[in-house]
Amino acid sequence: MNHGTLLVTGGAGYIGSHVVQQLVERGERVVVIDNLVSGFREAVRNAELVVGDVGDQRLVANVLATHHIEAVLHFAAHTVVPESVSDPLKYYGNNTCKTRNLLASCAEAGVRQFIFSSTAAVYGMPADGAADEGTPTMPHNPYGASKLMSETMLRDISATGAMRHVILRYFNVAGCDPAGRIGHSAPNATLLIKVACEHAVGKRASLSIFGTDYNTPDGTCIRDYIHVEDLAAAHLQALDHLRAGGESLTLNCGYGHGYSVREVIDAVERVSGHQLTVVEQPRRIGDCAMLIARSDRLKRALAWQPRYDDLDFIVRTALQWEEKLAHRRA
Ligand code: UD1
Repeated sequence: MNHGTLLVTGGAGYIGSHVVQQLVERGERVVVIDNLVSGFREAVRNAELVVGDVGDQRLVANVLATHHIEAVLHFAAHTVVPESVSDPLKYYGNNTCKTRNLLASCAEAGVRQFIFSSTAAVYGMPADGAADEGTPTMPHNPYGASKLMSETMLRDISATGAMRHVILRYFNVAGCDPAGRIGHSAPNATLLIKVACEHAVGKRASLSIFGTDYNTPDGTCIRDYIHVEDLAAAHLQALDHLRAGGESLTLNCGYGHGYSVREVIDAVERVSGHQLTVVEQPRRIGDCAMLIARSDRLKRALAWQPRYDDLDFIVRTALQWEEKLAHRRA
């Protein structure tokens, strides 16, 4: 392959490490920058890891120049929505301000292709529970707002002609590498499928359902869960698109249909063979009843096709990773 080296920020984290793995498997040269605040050194396999911060312009300039970086895939961010509500400046500082520094470093070094991890949280609470890329952006929490500000900077830079980008707006990412080499290792997870699997392997005593009185068929919230491997594949296709001279794009990443919290719990019970201890709690602040991706544009623009659109498979891979972590702890 005759391509340049790729810089992946946050490549030691959950989603970044799955993308790095797919890139390396198809023969790409990859350098990772990760400050290891929420990433794990062992998640970076077969790629160089530079331990440092994406906001450190000297460090980033050095990496961009030394490796003649062709394109940047930017994952490094804080991602815990409730924490963003209690400590918003942490999110604006880490997610927005550091992205600004990274973009400045890229512009200076002449990096012309950029792939950005964004989120469905930019939509807030769309009226009919489904969002396409034209749905108004009205983030409901600082996490979503911090990502939306980064999107705006990126679009403005691309408008000058300095860069082309693909913004990927993730819906609910779940599951792990089916081969069990890497996974989701965050210690204080809040995401439903991870938390439910932690309970299934005995790491937590129970599982809370936040709200049973939503206007949905079983009263619990509905989300569009996408397997991390399908999401990772979209990044590789986004890179191919930019390399082929494609225009800047913003794309939803989800399957276009959803499951309720109770349906997810049923799947975890079915796959694990354990009955979960479920505690019904009041609604969690900031949750909307339903959030589903309209993802036709992703399929059309990148010829993306999901491979793992199967809740039981998603849960099986998440559970397998949780068992591995439990085994390590024992
Ligand atoms: C949120 C963000 C999403 C972000 C993700 C990761 C929004 C709209 N979405 O997703 O962009 O990528 O966080 O930080 O802000 N639930 C329980 N019990 C639990 C955990 C969750 O019932 O122990 C419920 C929640 O109330 C929600 C659903 O499960 O209805 C999914 O929650 P979660 O996995 O935390 O993700 P989101 O909040 O949907």
